[in-house]
Amino acid sequence: MQRTKIADLLRTEPTGTTVLVKGWVRAFRNNQFIALNDGSTANNLQVVVDFEQTNPELIQRIKFGAAIGARGELVESQGKGQRIELKVEHLEIYGDCNPEEYPLQPKKQTLEFLREQAHLRFRTNTFGAVFRIRHALAFAIHRFFNEQGFVYLHTPIITASDAEGAGEMFRVTTLDPANPPKTEGGAVDFSQDFFGKAANLTVSGQLEAELGAMALGSVYTFGPTFRAENSNTTRHLAEFWMIEPEVAFADLNDNMDLAENMLRYVISYALEHCMDDLKILEERLIEEEKSKPQDQRSEMTLTEKLRFVTESHFERLTYTEAIDILRNSNPNKKGKFQYPIEAWGADLQSEHERYLVEKHFKKPVILTDYPAAIKAFYMRLNDGTEPGKETVRAMDILFPGIGEIVGGSQREERYDVLVSKMEAMHIPTEEMYWYLDTRRFGSCPHAGFGLGFERLILFVTGMTNIRDVIAFPRYPGSAEF
Ligand code: 4AD
Ligand code: MG
Repeated sequence: MQRTKIADLLRTEPTGTTVLVKGWVRAFRNNQFIALNDGSTANNLQVVVDFEQTNPELIQRIKFGAAIGARGELVESQGKGQRIELKVEHLEIYGDCNPEEYPLQPKKQTLEFLREQAHLRFRTNTFGAVFRIRHALAFAIHRFFNEQGFVYLHTPIITASDAEGAGEMFRVTTLDPANPPKTEGGAVDFSQDFFGKAANLTVSGQLEAELGAMALGSVYTFGPTFRAENSNTTRHLAEFWMIEPEVAFADLNDNMDLAENMLRYVISYALEHCMDDLKILEERLIEEEKSKPQDQRSEMTLTEKLRFVTESHFERLTYTEAIDILRNSNPNKKGKFQYPIEAWGADLQSEHERYLVEKHFKKPVILTDYPAAIKAFYMRLNDGTEPGKETVRAMDILFPGIGEIVGGSQREERYDVLVSKMEAMHIPTEEMYWYLDTRRFGSCPHAGFGLGFERLILFVTGMTNIRDVIAFPRYPGSAEF
């Protein structure tokens, strides 16, 4: 007999048919009622055992966490709390679970503890919900771009270039670390390495996506990216997933529209398809907030917040306008910012981004036209800016509770301008001939952005630590599992 998934069963009417379900025991009450979960949904199926007719040894083995199969008739439930239940005719234990040794307990356990049990935490309600939502968001992103006629381009994971020019790369090598070949000058001789040159894990697929966009028109990448930055925060991972669309014949306004539409689309998708999981996370948050003082509790529930974002237009303003707001803000005047805003040109810290979004505008914000000096080499220089006050056609999207969720720009399509910028920023122009070729042959205005997938999941799930929205987080000092 084929097993039926619980998600499918809960959608059906109790027809009196016989079905087979398989899953893990979430609770066992009165030697009679099993709450069975098979991962297909947040909801459990009530499986009713007739203990007078069942071998007591078998009953003994129905423990929290055990894997079981149950065959029986699907009937209307007599009890409250569920519409249907399964009356067991045959029960089978696939895997016992000794409660004395099992790290998970049928009670609330802290996220910190569960992080150390990341191999088991999928089995909790919270993480089941998080990872089903993660899947739904990934699917929604592909669906959005497919509907818009984008080509999904798989950009390389191993590269020899530094797309962001920030030098935060993990080296990929097969040289013997204890005894690498050396050049005459004493440096490591990477010409003898696997790729014949120094290689690293990619920090971004953007540069290769640009190459694709210059022929395919609209492309996107969606893959893992790696940053060897020593950031121990709730917003940074050393390995994270990024969605990077790149569009030919598009300017910064088109880019902002695309990002805004995509974010609204995928969040709406979650609201439409993930309500059971969102409700679990929403209730979790409500519980958590009870321990906070009234004024620190959020004004909206999780689903209200998501709905609010799908209905609001993001506030668009320039970096220069944002600096003025920040400079004159109360926390700045009262010395409450850890990094006070003094002069134009300062890089914005997460405290500033969050002030703009959460206190000043109270909705998502898109900041544009940042100082050239604090942004990457490939961003298009704004025409007619004063020397020393050059700005670029950059955009960062800032979200409540998150800060920067998207970073993007219109690209510098003018060959001469790009070359002089790369030289000034010490980006090797000879090695990147392939990137410059797009500007030599049939160059055109184009734009794109990168959405940090885990930051999106943080927002949609209401989780607060990025290490809780990726299955096996990698961060400084940790590559467990
Ligand atoms: O702003 P970033 O560095 O931009 C780029 O990489 C561009 N090449 C994107 C493009 O234009 N195609 O990164 C983009 C986004 C950030 O806004 C953030 O959401 C996320 O990637 N991000 C990280 N997420 C988790 N951990 C990290 N260490 C991250 N660094 C960036
Ligand atoms: Mg950025």
